[in-house]
Amino acid sequence: MLAGKKLLLIVAGGIAAYKTLELVRRLRERGCAVRALLTEAGAQFVTPLSLQALTEDKVYDRLFSLTDESEMGHIQLSRDADLLVVAPATADLLAKMAAGLADDLASTVLLATDKPVLAAPAMNVRMWRHPATRANLETLRARGLLTVGPNEGDMACGEYGPGRMAEPAEILVAIETALRGAGPLAGRRALVTSGPTYEAIDPVRYLANRSSGRQGHAIAAALGRLGAETTLVSGPTRLEDPAGVRVVHIESAEQMLEACRQALPADVAVCAAAVVDWKVKAQAEQKLKKNGGGPPSLELTETPDVLASLARAGNLRPGLLIGFAAETQDVVAYARRKRESKGCDWILANDVSPESGTFGGEENSIHLIDARSQVESWPRMSKQAVAERLAARIAETLQSSAEQSSAGDGAA
Ligand code: CTP
Repeated sequence: MLAGKKLLLIVAGGIAAYKTLELVRRLRERGCAVRALLTEAGAQFVTPLSLQALTEDKVYDRLFSLTDESEMGHIQLSRDADLLVVAPATADLLAKMAAGLADDLASTVLLATDKPVLAAPAMNVRMWRHPATRANLETLRARGLLTVGPNEGDMACGEYGPGRMAEPAEILVAIETALRGAGPLAGRRALVTSGPTYEAIDPVRYLANRSSGRQGHAIAAALGRLGAETTLVSGPTRLEDPAGVRVVHIESAEQMLEACRQALPADVAVCAAAVVDWKVKAQAEQKLKKNGGGPPSLELTETPDVLASLARAGNLRPGLLIGFAAETQDVVAYARRKRESKGCDWILANDVSPESGTFGGEENSIHLIDARSQVESWPRMSKQAVAERLAARIAETLQSSAEQSSAGDGAA
């Protein structure tokens, strides 16, 4: 799929720049033409000569070079590729991109391009978490910037956290996805709920649960990768927003329901959130005090059921509505009942008993109960793999129902 494609690789100044040499090698092995553009800071980390040898092409590094202008101007350079890849994307270059600056060849080309851009951020963890960088990324993502990584781990600067550039293999997958463009879910709208909810008791305390949001986030990312225009409505988690997905951050079940309503219509909705079932009837406006009178008694009332409300949304009901059933015993039997009582089409039953390690963990074992109440048990696999398999299954189902309805149109 990469064979015959043209990439413009922009290498900015960061220690991770050495990894891009490996990336170039892998891209070349797959028959991809790579042209490299090295920023002044990037040249402190890798030499033009190594990039030139690996790309088997000229390396571009200066804005005002007469020879370059006669061979290829910066505008043409920015448009001649199928995809622009910025790796490593430093905090500085991302800031320039967000502000629309064009004071060197890299920023000029990024401003002038009409092609998709994929960035692999790499920087110190504090720089990554700085509100300025967060705001820049939000702006850039809203304008369509694709991102891969960064990963969490030990950093060259001795700190630990998110900020390490994604590995060449991960960047390669992101490049393939970006070049694939229209996937089997292109033109479809997807809605996913994820994470826990927080139900406030008073301004500082809340009811919540241990959901990590991993499964829901992975599903949203997988649907996005297949081309669906995806909205992820998420409760508080420690996860990065997945690339290529619109994320709405909420806290309570009521806010989740409202955000989901706003995101309709949708061809498919997957409710993976672990919505807290109860909230206090009267949320205290001021912090509850001990006052020596013993613990307060909290009167609880039910939160809205997001999945069941989507099922009853009339002509706005998502075409394919999928829920999860978190059970600790009689998993399939309880899940079957839950599918019927909530009115969804499929339910993915998962064992969340403490010994399963599912809740908050990396893996999941799923039993898919479909619209005819048939059970399909999947082997235990990573939440990532569950997401891929579910997204592929959704694509297949939407595709075949579209084919059936167009066959029906033909017969009418
Ligand atoms: N769900 C929801 N809103 C709620 C409760 C649950 O949208 N207020 C959704 C979940 O996202 C999931 C499905 O309903 O897709 C089932 O959630 P689960 O926690 O298994 O079931 P509950 O409805 O909470 O029932 P119980 O706790 O009695 O098993």
